[in-house]
Amino acid sequence: MTAGPGAFSPVRVQCGGHGTAAMPTLSIEGRRQLRGHIRVSGAKNAVLKLMAASLLTREPCVIRNVPYIGDVLNMIEVLEGLGARCQLDGDVLYIEARDLHPEAPRDAVRRMRASIQVMGPLLGRLGEVKIAQPGGCAIGARPVDLHLAGLRALGAVIDERHGYIHGRAAKLQGAEIHLDLPSVGATENLMMAAAVADGETVIRNAAREPEIIEVQNFINCMGGRVRGAGTDTIRIRGVAGPLGGVDYTVIPDRIEAGTLAVCAAVCGGDVTLSPVIIEHMEIVAAKLVEAGAGVEVNGETLRVFGDGVLKPLHIRSQPYPGFPTDMQPQVVAMLTRALGTSIVTETIYSSRFKHVDELRRMGADITVDGRVAVVRGPCRLSGARVEASDLRAAAALVVAGLAAEGETVIEGLEHLDRGYEDLAGKLAAVGAKIVRRVPTEAAVP
Ligand code: EPZ
Repeated sequence: MTAGPGAFSPVRVQCGGHGTAAMPTLSIEGRRQLRGHIRVSGAKNAVLKLMAASLLTREPCVIRNVPYIGDVLNMIEVLEGLGARCQLDGDVLYIEARDLHPEAPRDAVRRMRASIQVMGPLLGRLGEVKIAQPGGCAIGARPVDLHLAGLRALGAVIDERHGYIHGRAAKLQGAEIHLDLPSVGATENLMMAAAVADGETVIRNAAREPEIIEVQNFINCMGGRVRGAGTDTIRIRGVAGPLGGVDYTVIPDRIEAGTLAVCAAVCGGDVTLSPVIIEHMEIVAAKLVEAGAGVEVNGETLRVFGDGVLKPLHIRSQPYPGFPTDMQPQVVAMLTRALGTSIVTETIYSSRFKHVDELRRMGADITVDGRVAVVRGPCRLSGARVEASDLRAAAALVVAGLAAEGETVIEGLEHLDRGYEDLAGKLAAVGAKIVRRVPTEAAVP
């Protein structure tokens, strides 16, 4: 059913813990300069929503530039559990959702919060959805109240009982919705539901992330009528007839590109990354320049170069176009090497500093008080055995491993593989000494 582009196979997150099988680890020998070119994959946080939006039509959809990562495989499981047919061929994903039923498969939903994005399309198309409450999350409470309030405003009756969310709507009706905060997922879910509602919906205080524009463009390619994405007011005119199929190429992943740029900045050397959409990366690029890294842009290519000597920064995560929370852990790891004290404030999530304990194990001098981390550099990081607690924490440990003396062994690769397509392979190709060790007894799918 699915075939990835090469030898890399993502380890999948297990429902209910790690199990007993020996899991792969990543081994890094740090302090090597990086030189060469790295191809940036398609954007995880766009493609997952486009996959959900494919449920709006009975016609075949083709999504190109799809990254081969755990979360995409998981979303395929969600869509197939709903009755859609999916085929991943290299980086092209074919989805045909001819006949659907409203109950999403529990295990796949519990593994990935983004599964909640099927609610809007299913309510819009079938008038019904039943989905398990999304699971707890290592980065803090992540309620879905804004998704549900918005769907209720569109006329859905939603019942939360026995760990499930059950929604019904004879026909969704366009409405004025004012989000209490600019939630990315709620904005997207409501755009998808409103695309097939009666009349016009206006979403105010909408999220402005580039991935929202992808959802707009995708729906419009299907025959929908959405405008305003990228601003804080989105207007969606529901279409009466059925939406059609689409052939769509997803944008490059700005967070993967940012992570690789941070790796290049901390190691020193000379790395080019492409394709990137530079407007999506302006604040990350600006912070790297402020830290003293060399940064150049040439069309769709970002070049990061220098000697790895960095200055401290003040960073505050914020909704787009502010500094992305999804880059905060990697930058904290980088700043352990900066010559001075950095202050990093996390405003989006209540507990997105889990990587700090593991970084301390490697010798980092970081104190956390609530949502503020004080990173005292420069630290001589030394390789250690560490464990990733979530996707971006895993990426932060890779950054630290590249900067550390000696060997770092990272456990919990299922988190890294959720969102990075063969990160180790990409870094090894530009000179990092990094290998995945797969214990022979571990049956990796
Ligand atoms: C998306 O999550 C991304 N995930 C996250 O990326 C990213 O961190 C986040 O946006 C912010 O940029 C995907 O796109 C799949 P939100 P999402 O709704 O949509 C609160 C990564 O590492 N909130 O904007 O879930 C919530 O608790 C991941 O790639 C409510 O209170 O983000 C959080 O504090 C992790 N009620 C804040 O808003 C709601 O109903 C931001 O959430 C919804 C959200």
